[in-house]
Amino acid sequence: MSTGWSVYVIALIVLNIAGCAWLLLANRSVQIDPREKGQSTGHDFDGIEELNNPLPAWWTWLFVMTIVFAVIYFILYPGFGNFPGVLGWTSAGQHEAEVARAEAAYGPIFARYFKTPIPELLDDERAIDMGGRIFAQRCSTCHGSDARGGRNYPNLTDDDWLYGGDPETIVKTITYGRNGMMPPFAAVIGGDEGVKDVTEYVLSLSGREHDAERAERGRQTFVTVCSACHMPTGTGNQAIGSPNLTDDIWLHGGRREDIERALKNGITSQMPAHVDMYTPEQIHLVAAYVYSLSAKKHGGG
Ligand code: HEC
Ligand code: HEC
Repeated sequence: MSTGWSVYVIALIVLNIAGCAWLLLANRSVQIDPREKGQSTGHDFDGIEELNNPLPAWWTWLFVMTIVFAVIYFILYPGFGNFPGVLGWTSAGQHEAEVARAEAAYGPIFARYFKTPIPELLDDERAIDMGGRIFAQRCSTCHGSDARGGRNYPNLTDDDWLYGGDPETIVKTITYGRNGMMPPFAAVIGGDEGVKDVTEYVLSLSGREHDAERAERGRQTFVTVCSACHMPTGTGNQAIGSPNLTDDIWLHGGRREDIERALKNGITSQMPAHVDMYTPEQIHLVAAYVYSLSAKKHGGG
């Protein structure tokens, strides 16, 4: 606040408090003629009549107390222009103190969990709960509150992993994020016809109904073009996050037209990095939660 504003605010406060005090004193010093006491003042509204009585003592003292309170408040706390108040209280200071208190309370718990390997945290309900809360706050917007994902967002509760479902890989995925990228292929594989052929072959990989003649042509293209990333068997490669095409689990939709669209337009999927958002201790806990979703079913395996 500039000095001008400060002076203005101080003047306003002083005038207000002085005004209130004056009003109070002026009213008390008015002597009521004993003959008029309790008589009507002649003011009447809607059948309610104003009688001439002094202000009740309790009311007067309440009024005095509010004035005293205001003065004490402005001495202790900031508010009187630029005067900081003798207690030195600030809202930022209070926030920092609360954060420090929370850290003192939770810091050691986080530190202990951080030292425990993720598979050993699976039996610790409290640790998994804390991880689950971070998940609900941040991850559920994309992966769903039940972590089952949806179109374009992977299901984290199954055993099908793009990058890998071991604790270290999950931590790495969350910390640094992932960029899933497949370039468009129509031009490389012979336009619309080529796309149709390869699509039939992809459908055949997971045992879906398909056109056998097209699939055979598509197989040759697959071996020369697609197998570099999806492997000759079509089972994918976690090192680059290329999905398994043989399990009939689809990230971008498994209909014929979905596969054709992926081949024509390519795919870009982004899992954001969280390295600037969460501490390693927090990432450790949310990773434990994610790990627990699929690991529990197999008795920790
Ligand atoms: C440069 C590596 C690369 C090549 C080559 C490649 N892909 Fe992919 N493909 C990927 C990646 C990575 C993804 C996953 C993208 C993501 O993260 O969502 C993917 C995803 C897909 C999907 C979607 C799967 C799903 O679950 O929805 C299909 C279908 C697919 N590829 C088919 C093919 C076919 C057919 C070819 C050959 C014409 C091919 N890909 C060539 C890397 C590749
Ligand atoms: C903005 C949306 C978004 C948010 C928020 C998000 N994710 Fe993801 N996540 C994705 C996408 C998209 C992918 C797939 C990336 C790819 O295909 O390469 C992914 C992939 C993953 C994977 C890899 C799955 C696999 O099969 O290997 C894990 C694990 C994961 N996310 C966990 C999390 C956790 C934990 C959080 C919260 C801290 C989170 N995600 C927040 C969008 C998101």
